[in-house]
Amino acid sequence: MKRLRTRVAIVGAGPGGLLLSHLLQRHGVDSIVLERRSREHVERRVRAGLLEGGTVDFLREAGLADRLDREGLVHEGFVFRFGSRAHRMPFTELTGRTVHMYGQQELVKDLIRARAEAGARLWFDVPDVELRGLETDTPTVRCTVAGEPVEIACDFVAGCDGFHGVSRRSVPSGALSTYERAYPYAWLGVLAQAPPAAEELIYAVHSRGFALYSMRSPAVSRLYLQVEAGERVENWPDERIWKELHTRLDIDGAPELTEGPILEKSCVALRGFVTEPMSHGRLFLAGDAAHIVPPTAAKGLNLAVADVKVLAAAFREFYAHGDRAALDGYTADCLPGVWQALEFSDWMSGLLHRPPEGRVFDGRLQDARLEAVVNSPAARTFAENYVGLARERTPARGGRP
Ligand code: APR
Ligand code: PHB
Repeated sequence: MKRLRTRVAIVGAGPGGLLLSHLLQRHGVDSIVLERRSREHVERRVRAGLLEGGTVDFLREAGLADRLDREGLVHEGFVFRFGSRAHRMPFTELTGRTVHMYGQQELVKDLIRARAEAGARLWFDVPDVELRGLETDTPTVRCTVAGEPVEIACDFVAGCDGFHGVSRRSVPSGALSTYERAYPYAWLGVLAQAPPAAEELIYAVHSRGFALYSMRSPAVSRLYLQVEAGERVENWPDERIWKELHTRLDIDGAPELTEGPILEKSCVALRGFVTEPMSHGRLFLAGDAAHIVPPTAAKGLNLAVADVKVLAAAFREFYAHGDRAALDGYTADCLPGVWQALEFSDWMSGLLHRPPEGRVFDGRLQDARLEAVVNSPAARTFAENYVGLARERTPARGGRP
């Protein structure tokens, strides 16, 4: 058994774990990152693609935004389509904030490259991470690295291993409270080699269901269809996907959707999930390991960055001044923003997704809400939530000074 030592053992090399490792090194704190999958897999995995202005600013401050600034697409508004009409949401005019469209896998590539250039201990293909002694001051992590059994002694473990990771499951039953909502619909996500037919995102509310037209680059479209909860991607051959996307997205007077080879398609359940507290002993959970938001408002990646920003600062306080207050206040600092983002994502999901068959009352409420969002001062509140401004204003520490 090879024995190693670090300050913070990080489980998971998604955006959360990689960013935390980068930030800790900038604060002079050593870490080891352990990733279950291969580098190729995590760099290819298609996930979110919308970065709030606050997230982009933070990545710039961390020296991680060079390619994002070169290749990311800056957006100042999007279009709602419902009732065969188009309504633009000018969120930059309303808030002064922009968002960037930049695939999460591109950010992960940038982060991995930065960690490799910094000589970080970042290990992939580590399938068997086991956390021990989380309730002691000397936790350890056991795993197999390049075929060799390894035990890592550390001060803390950062669980950045997503919803299905090992970290949250390593906490004794009853120590954490979890709160969950399952939605009565799912998303069929499609990545297509198809130049965008529109420069801005299109959120379409059609009688057959919600559809979203997004993009990753001037040559790649990212599209979503509301489908039944539990729907299987095998039921959706490419022809059926394009037909349904045209039906829901195309309107008179606007260019038709551009088709192209489908590079990837998958169905994802919509769920809301929060773990309280977000830490246990020497284990700190961040990102999807601690909370899941429905993808409707693209908050997941932005929340992971927000958690890691708080956690990295708390570790800096501990190692620079021996002060544990920020670590002890981690959950209180993060949760108000998590619940604020979840509330907006939940509300936006209800605004856009057609209710289950036959619930006419809900459908009429939905029509009224859509009209209100595009034709009233409610547009500003919507815009502030969409660009992340509302969450930034949410008082951390549960309102404590
Ligand atoms: N051991 C090591 N690594 C693990 C384990 C494990 N037992 N289980 C999961 N992982 C890895 C996954 O392979 C993944 O690379 O942890 C990483 C978690 O990354 P994400 O799921 O991307 O989570 P996070 O970094 O919090 O980023 C949240 O990702 O899933 C999207 O919509 C989500 O955009 C949001 C963002
Ligand atoms: C995406 O491009 O993946 C995306 C964009 C905006 C959303 C949701 C998803 O609201």
